[in-house]
Amino acid sequence: MDPRLIVALDYPSAPPALALAGRLQGLCQWFKVGLELFVAEGPSVVRELRRRDVSVFLDLKLHDIPNTVAGAVRSVAALGAEFLTVHAAGGPAMLEAAAEAAASVPNAPQLLAVTVLTSMDQLQLATIGIGHSSEDQVLRLAETASAAGINGFVASAEEVSALRQRYPAATLVIPGIRPAGTDTADQKRIATPAAALAAGASYLVVGRPITQAPDPAAATRAILEEMRSATALSA
Ligand code: C5P
Repeated sequence: MDPRLIVALDYPSAPPALALAGRLQGLCQWFKVGLELFVAEGPSVVRELRRRDVSVFLDLKLHDIPNTVAGAVRSVAALGAEFLTVHAAGGPAMLEAAAEAAASVPNAPQLLAVTVLTSMDQLQLATIGIGHSSEDQVLRLAETASAAGINGFVASAEEVSALRQRYPAATLVIPGIRPAGTDTADQKRIATPAAALAAGASYLVVGRPITQAPDPAAATRAILEEMRSATALSA
């Protein structure tokens, strides 16, 4: 068990998601519920995971007008999820509204600002009008989120050391994690668990390397071992 590992339950329905959470009981404390599962099952899957006493990262990547996002943040508080994502690209007014909404209710989740998706490379960024590097864009968006009072960021391992330097106390949540020798699929800005931790990650999000593995518990154990040896090396 390492509280820094978050397994992404990217499944189309609750039964396989809950079955995986059951198989990883004792190995993993955190599970991420993303759009695929939440749109299919709604709040009940979050409540069921909370009932099992695991921590839930609700990855809804909110990006809407400030009033709508604030309302969604208040609604999530009632579910008991511990992390909730909002897109930093929603801008200062949206981020401030989200932070104020979280501060106004009991049991609010910690907000994490999504900077640049790990599936975006320079070409993808250029296509949406962003000419500077992904690191510059991540730092710019993190600054916007930080100014709004949000001190947790989702970024790729490529930007984590720059973020850690600038925000020593921030919660840095890093997806796009691929143990050596696994399929990168649609992810572009990727790193191994050891490299992401060495660069300053607080949490690692791992989906397909575990969910698509023939033996998900064995794949999780291998990742935990890599995390443990990375930490031992840096200690
Ligand atoms: O399967 P894989 O390990 O690529 O899954 C990564 C998970 O992290 C997915 O659920 C994806 O939605 C999420 N994510 C990401 N990049 C971000 C934010 C979240 O890949 N910037």
